[in-house]
Amino acid sequence: MRTVLSRLIHSTPSISRLNATAISISGRNLCTDSNKVDEPFKVEEAETVNVPPPPAEKLLVLGGNGFVGSHVCREALDRGLSVASLSRSGRSSLHDSWATNVSWYKGNLLSNDSLKEALNGVTAVISCVGGFGSNSYMYKINGTANINAIRAASDQGVKRFVYISAADFGVVNYLLQGYYDGKKAAETEIQAKFPYGGVILRPGFIYGTRSVGSLKIPLGVIGSPLEMALEIAKPLKQIPLVGPLLTPPVNVTAVAKVAVRAATDAVFPPGIVDVHGIQRYSQQHK
Ligand SMILES: NC(=O)c1ccc[n+]([C@@H]2O[C@H](COP(=O)([O-])OP(=O)(O)OC[C@H]3O[C@@H](n4cnc5c(N)ncnc54)[C@H](OP(=O)(O)O)[C@@H]3O)[C@@H](O)[C@H]2O)c1
Repeated sequence: MRTVLSRLIHSTPSISRLNATAISISGRNLCTDSNKVDEPFKVEEAETVNVPPPPAEKLLVLGGNGFVGSHVCREALDRGLSVASLSRSGRSSLHDSWATNVSWYKGNLLSNDSLKEALNGVTAVISCVGGFGSNSYMYKINGTANINAIRAASDQGVKRFVYISAADFGVVNYLLQGYYDGKKAAETEIQAKFPYGGVILRPGFIYGTRSVGSLKIPLGVIGSPLEMALEIAKPLKQIPLVGPLLTPPVNVTAVAKVAVRAATDAVFPPGIVDVHGIQRYSQQHK
């Protein structure tokens, strides 16, 4: 028996590495060295065994070539995640070097099955898909497209889903009814399909650098001072009608940071995070 085991140890590279110390069976050492068979368990020499790291979490960013989506992709890459993105035009106009590290998929969330391949091996999804237009278009792109994605991700066993929704602007909602109704419908779907891993971010105006081809448009010129001013005016938020309009703008890097954390931190609480929550979470070191 000992001869057989000894041969096995010498013929199997991974086992023969352990041979330098010992193989323990039922709490006793069983070495190839015959006079050590009955010694009590004792590690004479510690060897570092190269255990491969657990498979990297894979994040799918829907709309990763857009303004918010591209910052989300960068934040996720910086955190060492494996990142894929899906949008109708794929990588399209992004010229930045980080974009080569993203797996780009072309697909339309309004057509069935367009997500199947992109969802392969994905553990979390962040949707940055949304837009403006006629009321029916806004409902489709903010609502239906995202509802399709939420259902497909849930069917595929994705654990966490983060949706970039929008702050409630009170009376203004009536002017953009399709937009807000679509957002609300997608939010309801997330809460139904991802009760434990669904996070909804509700920013107001998002500022930062928007890439348009090789052009960088700095939206912070207006957004940043406004953010500070409206933080100070926070108590005025209690005034009905006026209150919602005083939602402070938020930096796109803060939104991206919180979105990636919400998608990857298993203890990040599910539910709605408003603009103040986004600011708070983004300042935490994690
Ligand atoms: N920017 C803000 O100030 C702000 C404020 C509050 C909330 N939000 C919300 O944040 C999200 C991101 O906004 P953003 O400013 O980054 O918008 P954006 O730059 O227009 O990006 C939208 C993304 O969605 C993709 N997309 C649109 N329709 C699609 C479809 N049918 N299938 C697949 N992909 C589709 C677009 O790529 P393709 O065109 O290539 O498909 C693009 O990547 C939106 O939901 C928006 O409502 C934005």
